[in-house]
Amino acid sequence: MANENEIDLSVNFCGINLSNPVFTASGTCGYSDELSDFMDINALGGFITKSITVKPRMGNPTPRIVETDSGMLNAIGLANIGLDAFIDQKLGALNDLCPIVFVNVAGESIEEYKQVCQELSYRREIAGFEVNISCPNVSRGGISFGTEPKVVEEIISEVKKVSGDKILMVKLSPSVTNICEIARAALEGGADALSLINTFTSMVIDIHSRRPVLANRTGGLSGPAIKPIAVYLVNKVYTEVTKETDVPILATGGVRNASDVVEFLLAGATAVGVGTWNFVEPDVTMKIIEGLKKYCAREGVNKIKELIGSLEAD
Ligand SMILES: Cc1cc2nc3c(=O)[nH]c(=O)nc-3n(C[C@H](O)[C@H](O)[C@H](O)COP(=O)(O)O)c2cc1C
Repeated sequence: MANENEIDLSVNFCGINLSNPVFTASGTCGYSDELSDFMDINALGGFITKSITVKPRMGNPTPRIVETDSGMLNAIGLANIGLDAFIDQKLGALNDLCPIVFVNVAGESIEEYKQVCQELSYRREIAGFEVNISCPNVSRGGISFGTEPKVVEEIISEVKKVSGDKILMVKLSPSVTNICEIARAALEGGADALSLINTFTSMVIDIHSRRPVLANRTGGLSGPAIKPIAVYLVNKVYTEVTKETDVPILATGGVRNASDVVEFLLAGATAVGVGTWNFVEPDVTMKIIEGLKKYCAREGVNKIKELIGSLEAD
């Protein structure tokens, strides 16, 4: 058995060397300054902020969270402090962090996405943007930006024009007929990395009131319930779209321990995000990093990057 302390957990993400492949997922760890009591944020490989929109958003009415078997539904509705307050109050805390930092960007029009990216494109505190295309497109009747390949290519190519030298990562929705078509459209538009998956639109009904539990009626399902679907979709996008390229995949969906991370790496992910499980065990990412060292030592894996996409063919 190899010595745990000699295991190399580093991965290369768009040319940047990360200390390990573990990220926190957008919307589950705020803007970073809230976390210091629970985890050593500098031990992470990557950090992603809550979605930022141009104007502050209160989000949806409550109740907007409900637990399910092996998961949860959220209908937070992109509640956030807005671009100006983010720059004034939160960007400072992201300065000089060890993990690679992405700002998750949301909007209701292409112009809104562009404005957020343009204003942040000069800020040295961040390495890139995670563009959340699961938002309703107000100018096209509220249909999600992320469901039509042509719209995905258009929005990403427009954002690319204003994002300077920042890494452009596109976060894909699983609620589409063919996720590979959407992934290809994002790359055509100029994406440098892909992030998958976001939550699944779902509903929970209170059988006494005979009403949906969430005030918004529906919410996004996340947590361990979605992990096998996320593993499948990551492997599909890896084998059909990114394998022969240097485009990394950030895989997210149901991760709660080191074994889950290893599964995603084998499926083709370069890095792995942890979302819902931060609410159950706020120090889970720290435990995962330790668990990865133990797994590698036990399995004789000296460099974790050797695992990426190494799923046996049959
Ligand atoms: C409470 C909550 C809030 C979220 N907010 C955002 C968000 O603002 N932007 C975004 O792109 N994804 C958001 N997500 C989705 C997560 O980043 C992640 O893609 C999804 O939850 C699947 O990962 P998980 O199963 O580990 O939670 C949110 C998820 C949860 C549970």
